[in-house]
Formats: sequence, C-alpha cells, structure tokens
Amino acid sequence: MAMNRITIPDLQQMKEQGKKITLLTAYDCLFASLIDAALIDTILVGDSLGMVVMGYENTVPVTLEQVIHHTQAAAATTNHAMLIADMPFGSYEASDEQAIRNAQRLVKEGGAQAVKVERGNELIRRRVGAIVQAGVPVMGHLGLTPQTAALMGGYRVQGRQADAARRILEHARGLEQEGIFALLLECVPLELAGLITTEASIPVIGIGAGVECDGQALVTHDMLGLYPSPVRHARQYCDLRAAIGEALARYRTEVKEGHFPGEENSFHMREEEARKLAR
Ligand code: KIV
Repeated sequence: MAMNRITIPDLQQMKEQGKKITLLTAYDCLFASLIDAALIDTILVGDSLGMVVMGYENTVPVTLEQVIHHTQAAAATTNHAMLIADMPFGSYEASDEQAIRNAQRLVKEGGAQAVKVERGNELIRRRVGAIVQAGVPVMGHLGLTPQTAALMGGYRVQGRQADAARRILEHARGLEQEGIFALLLECVPLELAGLITTEASIPVIGIGAGVECDGQALVTHDMLGLYPSPVRHARQYCDLRAAIGEALARYRTEVKEGHFPGEENSFHMREEEARKLAR
C-alpha cells in the first residue's frame, strides 16, 4: 500500500498555497509509471482513450468496462499520483443508483482514487451529489465537454459570450455545492477560467483555459507529439511520432540489409555441441 500518494487535502493545500497542480492522461502501465516517476500530481484515465487508444472518432462509444480495464493497467504501476478515472457517456445519467454503482466499480475494480464526471446541469449535479455521498470523490468537468460535443456544435471554445460564461459559472458553483473536490475546465476563455478559479474554494485545473487556473492538464499523447493532429491548447514538449517513425524505418532497413541482429544480439552453442549437431 503506497503511503505517499497525492490526496485531496494535498491538492487543496496546493491551491491555498498558490502551488500549481499538474494532470496528465495515461491508459497503460508504462505511461502511468513514467508520469508517476516524473512526480506529476494527478493521472487521469480519460475517456480520450476512445480516440488515443481505440481509434474511435470521439469519446461517445467508450464503455465503463474499457475505462476499468485501462485504469487497472495505470493503477498497477503508480504510487505517487492521484489516479482519477473518467465516467464514460451513459454510465451515470440514468439514475443515482447507476451513477453510484459505476463510480464504485471504477474505484473497487479499477483502482482509481476518484472519478470525473462531465457537465453541470441539474440532472448531472444530482448524480454527482449521489456519488459523493456514496463515498467516491468526484472531479467535475465543465466548458467543452466532449461527451456532448454534438450538442455544442462540435469541439469549440465554450463561454465566449457573457450569457454562456455565466451558465458555466453557475454550473461550477452548483457542482462545488454538491461536493466535488476539483474542477476541470476545458477550452474556455482565460477571463472566465480566472473568475471561476478565484471564486471556487476547490482546485480548478484547466486544459485550454489559460494560465490563471490552479493547475494544468494535458493529454499525454498531445504533449509528447504522439497524436497525429495537434490541438491549439496543447504545447508539444517533444516529437515522439517523428522519433518513433525514424526508429521503425531504421529497423526495417537494417533487417532488409542483414545488419540486424548483430553479434551482440545473438546466442551461441558450445563448440562441441555445434560439432555434434553438424555430424
Ligand atoms: O478524457 C480526457 O482525456 C479528458 C481531457 C480533457 C483531460 O477529459
């Protein structure tokens, strides 16, 4: 049992002390262990796994079983970061019972310490309140909420107009009242994110929401340059896609030209055994 894992009070203290919080996504044990070793504060097993891992067009088809499966992998190799699992579309809306059962599965079977729920309308707030009261910490998610991007006219910045911004602010207030421990704000103007961050007593983590948030989130495959289509809000810290492409091409050439494997990659029989075999 890990004793030094980041907790909700740690995140709360970071907000209060003005120390920025980091969040990255992971869907497997290798990436989760790299992120954990880099002392990133929180790891999200996001439903972005639909696009990043499964090659779906969006996050809508992702199932609870898939998120549990990938959370188990990420949980196996982390002991520092708080592990948060996304509740996929259709896994929490129908009833409080459904929301509680599925949130508890992500914690009990997946090994997550918390779950994340998208949106903040009245129905979702009831579900969030029920999950929290049942004992599972919830991170809210407002602004661009990919599970219902179709209702928003696609993947676009939310809350640019004052009315829309006010609605997001009210949803943030409502979710905080229901007991969320943190809020993820995706693709909203910096001015709105700043206001929500100042007003909220819980940590507000932004992705495409400007520098004033209490912390920053990125999809790991974006920041490592692995995902083919870069997004404006992500900074690319390296170009792994190019590096991997070069390595694959070199491997192909070396095999075709007989340069791989080398002596250092080969095994030998003892001489007498080789002689016996030849006879
Ligand atoms: O699923 C996901 O990766 C997300 C990102 C916005 C961090 O929710």
